[in-house]
Amino acid sequence: MTDDQNRPDRARMAVFASGSGSNFEALADAVRNGTLHAEIAMVVTDRRDAGVRERAALFDIPSVVIRPRDFDSEAEYVARLFALLESYRVEFVALAGYLKMIPSEIVQRFKHRITNIHPALLPSFGGKGMYGRRVHEAVLEHGVRWTGVTVHLVDEEYDTGPIILQEPVPVYPSDSVDELAARVLKVEHKLYPQAVDLLVQRRIRVDGRKVIIGPGDE
Ligand code: GRF
Repeated sequence: MTDDQNRPDRARMAVFASGSGSNFEALADAVRNGTLHAEIAMVVTDRRDAGVRERAALFDIPSVVIRPRDFDSEAEYVARLFALLESYRVEFVALAGYLKMIPSEIVQRFKHRITNIHPALLPSFGGKGMYGRRVHEAVLEHGVRWTGVTVHLVDEEYDTGPIILQEPVPVYPSDSVDELAARVLKVEHKLYPQAVDLLVQRRIRVDGRKVIIGPGDE
């Protein structure tokens, strides 16, 4: 880790991911190149074999596996998760392909400090069970001309929190799921660091279900 990444004045964040972690890498790259003003203190995953762990190691970022089923109760799981986040002094959480629901106690404690990225234009093609390829399959099946990327704040439901940024992506008649997923993912990698930077630089304010983007703390 470079000194610049480890600056004490930087917002400390955790990235939660269950899969390959390409969005984690986009965030870590943005930290490294100075466009995301934060430090990624840790990666949290629910899968020992998640690809994100290898990517995290390449950035010298610790990854911790924590799975609800390894605990006797939800309360013990939540307590351990809190303890972990506290021990790494985490202030912000970015979900990047994390498939477990975030316990409501964590959502409340980190109110408006947890982001999620979704590979479609919410509120379309979101909600429980709508993740990964299923999103793109549904988009193609529906025949919409545009899909896109949404970054939103996390509330206690799936994919319903206030929207920070969105960007449309065209859908072509000849698209396969893989082609569409790749086109969307490319935009995800650009949009997620931008949206997280707005949050950690305290440039967003939440008004009801709307996010207002302002000039930031001066
Ligand atoms: C991305 O498509 C993201 O939008 C969704 O899960 C996928 C994660 O991909 N929430 P990756 O692990 O970051 O490559």
